[in-house]
Amino acid sequence: MIMNTSHESGMNFNLSEEQMAVKEAARDFAKTYLLPDVIERDAQSIFPKEAVKKMGELGFMGMMVSPEYGGSGMDTLSYVLALEEIAKIDASAAVIMSVNNSLVCWGLEKYGTHEQKQKYLLPLASGQSLGAFCLSEPEAGSDATSQQTSALDKGAYYLLNGTKNWITNGGSSDICLVMAQTNHVLKHKGINCLIVEKGMEGFVVGKKEDKMGIRSSDTHTLMFSEVEVPKDNRIGEEGFGFKFAMSTLNGGRIGIAAQALGIATGAYELALKYSKERKTFGKAIAEHQAIQFKLAEMATKIQAARLLVYEAARQKDEGKDYALSAAMAKLYASDVAMDVTTEAVQIHGGYGYVREFHVERMMRDAKITQIYEGTSEIQKLVIAREILK
Ligand code: CAA
Repeated sequence: MIMNTSHESGMNFNLSEEQMAVKEAARDFAKTYLLPDVIERDAQSIFPKEAVKKMGELGFMGMMVSPEYGGSGMDTLSYVLALEEIAKIDASAAVIMSVNNSLVCWGLEKYGTHEQKQKYLLPLASGQSLGAFCLSEPEAGSDATSQQTSALDKGAYYLLNGTKNWITNGGSSDICLVMAQTNHVLKHKGINCLIVEKGMEGFVVGKKEDKMGIRSSDTHTLMFSEVEVPKDNRIGEEGFGFKFAMSTLNGGRIGIAAQALGIATGAYELALKYSKERKTFGKAIAEHQAIQFKLAEMATKIQAARLLVYEAARQKDEGKDYALSAAMAKLYASDVAMDVTTEAVQIHGGYGYVREFHVERMMRDAKITQIYEGTSEIQKLVIAREILK
């Protein structure tokens, strides 16, 4: 059965009954388990351990993975709907979920061996363990082909040495997918992706970042010193690591676009409510045209972002090439998140500048969506290359 969501969004997205149920379950979860302490977790930079455990129990940590490997077997649009609802309340929880789903589980299921899936994907998708994706380095952020971390071929194993930066779930994860250079001569074609377990000798979790936003997600530097990673832990053929990272990031960008959409929607809904309650010059501020114009622009931008994000998800579900639509969705939705949260603070006035009213956190959280999983400038580069093909 197809459900019309026009009452909520002003537009008919033809969501199925199952997709609507997922959206509602995510909304209920976020209100019950994330909302009560979200301000405190942000202020103290506390990882939402219990909530992440609950997300695993509810099937949110491996949403697109087949039930055979512990997942929920859902489509990308359902995943996007759930992420959006969670990001509306807590963008930190949303990125924890997004990295585990898009960057770790998806790649393992698509490119891993049956043995790798049994050993690693099953616990990751069912929420018993948590994953991290390790591409960025001190000298290789946007320029991801310049990997300095090395994985020397030693026959039965790779000898891993190097440092990874800004790793989401870095301190809390059990399993890391690490991109490392095996053959410098081959440049990006010499990069491998290795599954590295927390606890392998020589793997050290470094400093935790003190961030502007998404403060209750756990971002660390990770160090690898002479770590012996079995050959069986390489994903795909020798030299497939960079392609693996790029292919995985295409889907990751849909996840971050959904996170950005959720942040924008959350801030807009708070601003809308506040504008009906707050009175100035004898009437609700929603009756002033200055505020009405802001709300009108916010609602319009959110609607446009939602169309791009859902369209990217649909293209992925239909098996089409979605690199372009994912980059467009992330580029636009992250800008909308920044614009809308800034306006939500403005509408709240002085109240918007204090923690209690949530929107200042949302404005800080929004900024990272223009940076991670490819900066806005990298998205433009991807878009330009695709349209000029
Ligand atoms: N999809 C599939 N394949 C892609 C791709 C994409 N989006 N982008 C590049 N590739 C492929 C190319 O086709 C090429 O393959 P061939 O060798 O077979 O031709 C190969 O990758 C190398 O690509 P380029 O020649 O285009 O390499 P480049 O150096 O000129 O540009 C880049 C590459 C697109 C800029 C890439 O480095 C990039 O995407 N950078 C951004 C990295 C990024 O997003 N980092 C995010 C970190 S992860 C994170 O933030 C996670 C977190 O914790 C939240």
